[in-house]
Amino acid sequence: MTAKLAVLISGNGSNLQALIDATAAGILPAQIAVVVSNRRGAYGLERARRAQVPACYHPLKPYRDAGRSRAEYDADLAALVMEYAPDWIVLAGWMHILSDSFLRCFPGRVVNLHPALPGQFPGAHAIDDALAAFGRGEIGQTGVMVHLVPDERVDEGPPLATETVPIHRGDTHGTLAARIHTVEHRLLVDTLRKLITNNCQPQLATGH
Ligand code: GRF
Repeated sequence: MTAKLAVLISGNGSNLQALIDATAAGILPAQIAVVVSNRRGAYGLERARRAQVPACYHPLKPYRDAGRSRAEYDADLAALVMEYAPDWIVLAGWMHILSDSFLRCFPGRVVNLHPALPGQFPGAHAIDDALAAFGRGEIGQTGVMVHLVPDERVDEGPPLATETVPIHRGDTHGTLAARIHTVEHRLLVDTLRKLITNNCQPQLATGH
């Protein structure tokens, strides 16, 4: 079984690259049907072009400038994505909260990657927040999760996979981010592979 993926990005796209490499190597039985970025300068767009994957830039600003709503932006994003008929929508560093006007088009099909464990450090500064909590002696480790996105809550939703990542004394943002990204690249590929082969169920027992 080969699944079609739509991958939404906003930045570097190292996780997109992991997906590109895994599909090319046959590790992930998937085809990346389209990559969409909400930022023109996202390096992930270049990664998509190099891999000859269709890449689209879908910015919010023209909507704002025209007084149009985020719901309209999200509805147009959904229409764009739907043209590629993906089985799964993968948010791989997508820095935009999706409203129901997008999510209702893909029920149970949107997967997010977040550099923290369930219930910890939602939002765009999860790695720095974890470092700060470590500095205060509150935690000794952080982690990575892959989860479904059923609604507009940020970095919440039924976890599909989690993995802890140790924090070491003397870690900087760079050293911890590198350790986290290494885990992310493997966990995202592994979780999608299990989803595609119907071998992955949400971890509902966590209460999320
Ligand atoms: C990752 O840490 C992901 O968990 C978070 O954004 C980052 C994206 O990194 N949501 P990259 O663009 O895939 O390199």
